[in-house]
Amino acid sequence: MVKICCIGAGYVGGPTMAVIAYKCPSVEVVVVDISKPRITAWNSEQLPIYEPGLEDVVKKCRGKNLFFSTEIEKHVAKADIIFVSVNTPTKTQGLGAGKAADLTYWETSARLIADVSKSAKIVVEKSTVPVKTAEAIEKILTHNSKGISFQILSNPEFLAEGTAIDDLFNPDRVLIGGRETPDGMKAVKTLKDIYAHWVPEERIICTNLWSAELSKLAANAFLAQRISSVNAMSALCEATGADVSEVSNAVGKDTRIGPNFLNSSVGFGGSCFQKDILNLVYICECNGLPQVANYWKQVIKVNDYQKTRFVNRVVSSMFNTIANKKIAILGFSFKKDTGDTRETPAIDVCRGLLGDNAQLSIYDPQVPERQIRDDLSMRKLDWEHPGHASSVSFSAPEQISVVTDAYQATGGAHAICILTEWDEFRSLDFQRIYDSMPNPAYIFDGRNIVDVEKLRRIGFVVYSIGKPLDPWLVDMPAD
Ligand code: NAD
Ligand code: UDX
Repeated sequence: MVKICCIGAGYVGGPTMAVIAYKCPSVEVVVVDISKPRITAWNSEQLPIYEPGLEDVVKKCRGKNLFFSTEIEKHVAKADIIFVSVNTPTKTQGLGAGKAADLTYWETSARLIADVSKSAKIVVEKSTVPVKTAEAIEKILTHNSKGISFQILSNPEFLAEGTAIDDLFNPDRVLIGGRETPDGMKAVKTLKDIYAHWVPEERIICTNLWSAELSKLAANAFLAQRISSVNAMSALCEATGADVSEVSNAVGKDTRIGPNFLNSSVGFGGSCFQKDILNLVYICECNGLPQVANYWKQVIKVNDYQKTRFVNRVVSSMFNTIANKKIAILGFSFKKDTGDTRETPAIDVCRGLLGDNAQLSIYDPQVPERQIRDDLSMRKLDWEHPGHASSVSFSAPEQISVVTDAYQATGGAHAICILTEWDEFRSLDFQRIYDSMPNPAYIFDGRNIVDVEKLRRIGFVVYSIGKPLDPWLVDMPAD
């Protein structure tokens, strides 16, 4: 029986290994982590992450060929294939702070693998890492290896949160990079055979190590760039009376462009896009390519601009003052169908509104109150000024209330900000909500999910990103 061990039981390690175990009953999969609470949760009825379809897959395999454990050394030593799926966040201090990837967790894992291994291993980079990381990992492993053979593969993960199980069941492609030596090619084949249990062969792409590592950063940069492009257009739409949904539709019909990932929003969030672009920017700078670095930086600058623009729109629309006004925040996670709040645009928007002394009533179907309060009080790294963790922090807990349904959040509010596109927000009883709010009652839709005309007929003043402005708002520039 092939034995797999995955170091890191997070958003990627957990679902990916559960699907491998489910699709390959003849393979034993053990997911290990340093976090005891996380492993306890994976072994319980209440999984540590919310992801549609995940529970079902885990329940079918857990205890059969899928295990979660904190006994890292034991399971690493026994494994034939070790996936490393630890976090690779942006460095917060020292050289490259604010841009470079922090590989501390990766290096610790590599050293542990070198220390405890007694037999040949295939070590798979599942985390997103800077191009050329495999070279560094190889050095750590071979310098400490006592003659044991290690093959390093790059197998970046392309799943998106909220659709992880579907993405894993039916991936657009699986990418495997390896050394172009007989041993390297043998290792690639071993991993390919695992995926071949359910992924059609033509969707398994094999490349050299550096192409695989760089393709992951490139894919995330391209995806984020599309969102910043459409968001940049949304500002121009508001200035001219064009409708960004109509523009996206028309542009996306061009088969060279395609219709996906063209939804204008209050900004992209999530643990990957910003981190991976910053990482790309840093790599370009280190390779003497400042023009390329500046090109990609703009994607993040436009994203920041979009969040600021949204806050300015709210404040300017409400007579330039939101002090002590109740504002309902609908949605806090970075997208629907996840409880993940890493880099969610809601953090920056809420901070902006709190900075103008608003009273926020926040509701999200999946994000717990503790998480929201932590996110809003944490210091934020200022990526433009490496080495200086900025003092943008917030600590006025009495300005925030976190509630358990949308009607509670909106009751008596002066304005509603929709920051996540949860399906339940589409079918709210907006007449009931309007009747509970003082006039003028505002809705600021950061996800373009409401029926603008219907809400205007009820009486709301409606702002929807990139849509023709409400007559009420026309003379109030947000920039
Ligand atoms: P995560 O923070 O959810 O999980 C990482 C886990 O690794 C944590 O549980 C942490 O305790 C554990 N860990 C850290 N150091 C460890 C060590 N030395 N030994 C054992 N466990 C250790 O992160 P994630 O979202 O799963 O992301 C993991 C990697 O995958 C990152 O590089 C990320 O960029 C990449 N990625 C993430 C996504 C996504 O949607 N979240 C998608 C594709 C790729
Ligand atoms: C992303 C990549 O899609 C995935 O391939 C990679 O493995 C990890 O990073 P994720 O961050 O989980 O996945 O979600 P994604 O669906 O890409 O959305 C990212 C952000 O962009 C969200 O905040 C989402 O709301 C926003 N978005 C997405 C838009 O604003 N408009 C769009 O058209 C699409």
